[in-house]
Amino acid sequence: LPIRAGSYTDELVKTAKTIASPGRGILAIDESNATCGKRLASIGLDNTETNRQAYRQLLLTTPGLGEYISGAILFEETLYQLTTDGKKFVDCLRDQNIVPGIKVDKGLVPLPGSNNESWCQGLDGLASRSAEYYNHGARFAKWRTVVSIPSGPSALAVKEAAWGLARYAAISQDNGLVPIVEPEILLDGDHSIERTLEVAEKVWSEVFFYLAENNVVFEGILLKPSMVTPGAEHKEKASPETVAKYTLTMLKRRVPPAVPGIMFLSGGQSEMEATLNLNAMNQAPNPWHVSFSYARALQNSVLKAWQGLPENVVAAQNSLLERAKANSLAQLGKYSA
Ligand code: 13P
Repeated sequence: LPIRAGSYTDELVKTAKTIASPGRGILAIDESNATCGKRLASIGLDNTETNRQAYRQLLLTTPGLGEYISGAILFEETLYQLTTDGKKFVDCLRDQNIVPGIKVDKGLVPLPGSNNESWCQGLDGLASRSAEYYNHGARFAKWRTVVSIPSGPSALAVKEAAWGLARYAAISQDNGLVPIVEPEILLDGDHSIERTLEVAEKVWSEVFFYLAENNVVFEGILLKPSMVTPGAEHKEKASPETVAKYTLTMLKRRVPPAVPGIMFLSGGQSEMEATLNLNAMNQAPNPWHVSFSYARALQNSVLKAWQGLPENVVAAQNSLLERAKANSLAQLGKYSA
């Protein structure tokens, strides 16, 4: 059937399908230098380029990673960085059939006129930056904006988040990068799961309205939603079955089946929760590939095992493989704790 012609359309569809392949998901290691610094501080390391390189090298050279991981999202520094042996990180990924991705947004700033909410910067110069990232081997992109439930969300904040994501998605596709569309609905707050569902439906309906208005090819995007859960401070926790039911209901109401992959963020869930929730969502067939794009839920144990010591690298890599394999099984609906 006809699909909007663009110089990269076929390649975008192919890239998105490769990333959304059975039993695989995304390793998100695109922490900004500031956020990476916090992770390193948690094990007593200074936030130097050498320490960031050592940590990313540990992750990206893990033998066998490509069996469970189809894409890795990098921060700009890592896209251009080499291993200590002088090999491009991008080539380490390609050798394992892992698609390199790049975080392209420029972070959150206060949104004037809103209820103390924020908006995401980065559209200025995005086309030329995206073309350059493509030339350096990136084939997909990520833009994370956030929506806060306790702060409203205001109609203004939702509209700005949705419009920014849609402009970014159109520009990414125009430059050969599959856009990951990520309006993260923050976990903070004591609201119920029903309230999260209501907000998520509102946010995704606006996102798809503007994606369509911007002529984005749905077959060439990936989504990165938050799971629908109660707020982190809500009195009751939801079981994986409940999270799966609410999250899939939201997706079925709002996301066309033309979208190939839904790659969830972990958003502060524990490693085990993130795996069990994903597994619950894959107990029956879905219209899309339902998988993971976790940062914290794939890295917490790795950092603890590493402690910045060369003699711990193999143990840390084994711990990454263990989480990656667990989530791979969860993608197939075959994980048991
Ligand atoms: P978490 O899985 O730690 O939420 O991070 C995913 C991510 O990349 C957020 O943009």
